[in-house]
Amino acid sequence: MTTFDMTTSTTNAGDDTLDPKWGVSSPMHDPAILARFAARPTDVLITTAPKAGTTWMQQILHQLRTGGDTDFQRIDDVVPWLELPRPGQSLAERLARFEAIRNPRVFKTHCTYEQTPGVETARILLTTRDPRDCCVSFYHHLTNLTEAAREQLGVAAPDSFDPFFERWMEFGAWFRNVRSWWPHRDRPNVLVLRYEDLKRDLEGAIETIARFLEWPLTAETKVNTLRYASFAWMKAHSDRFAHHGESGEPLFRPGTFVRKGEVGDHQGLLSAAQGERIVERARRELTPECLRFLDLD
Ligand code: A3P
Repeated sequence: MTTFDMTTSTTNAGDDTLDPKWGVSSPMHDPAILARFAARPTDVLITTAPKAGTTWMQQILHQLRTGGDTDFQRIDDVVPWLELPRPGQSLAERLARFEAIRNPRVFKTHCTYEQTPGVETARILLTTRDPRDCCVSFYHHLTNLTEAAREQLGVAAPDSFDPFFERWMEFGAWFRNVRSWWPHRDRPNVLVLRYEDLKRDLEGAIETIARFLEWPLTAETKVNTLRYASFAWMKAHSDRFAHHGESGEPLFRPGTFVRKGEVGDHQGLLSAAQGERIVERARRELTPECLRFLDLD
């Protein structure tokens, strides 16, 4: 899950004492927990634009950390989403749960640099992906919600791609995320990886990540990570990677959350003009070096 609809609230969860830098409250973003979260030097924060391979990175890091663990029910149990509001739990309870996780803790977040707690303390792993593929992936994300999830969350199915595309552009999360993190890419505690490079050479990426985190990488851990973070394994266990409602029911149709996992999948759904609008906006908002890194120019 990245977000169910693309709305953001303009209120700050009724807490006027919070620094506005933590962002505004929305069904997917709780500034209060960001303001109070205490990062540790052993923490790893996976930060991504929506649909850029967040869940894949959650699984890679969990496997690297454990040497190969398939016992978990849901990836979010072992690699939680930092800023996700959890209506059934008080803030104190959520913080206590985070505190109780053993080192090295790994969290997922879609926060910008400015909103991320612990940017000086934790290690940050940023995954980027072609925004055109992220856009199309997000469309399928919304179409794959179950009817019950739609009802529960009050989200209508996108009836066609074109209006969805306009909303995705307006939402702008991909641009916001990349623009905010790019200037910090050379810090020693930040590693930026591209989804496309993981697809091309997962083994090489695993070695790079382990080196960056200074986590030991035995031959067995590498083999297990390659197996359990493969598209085939994750697809076969898609429901562990999908998100669940308050009472544990899956929010996505079975087998759909880990969907297709291809580079260039926007071709066919995104029109050439829409693709060009995305690239044009990226040219306006990002540096030439960043565009080259992303293979957009
Ligand atoms: P597609 O919808 O293009 O298939 P996120 O986790 O950030 O929401 O990203 C979801 C995207 O990552 C989906 O892309 C999903 O299929 C893809 N993905 C998940 N696991 C993957 C894996 N092991 N290998 C390649 N892609 C994967």
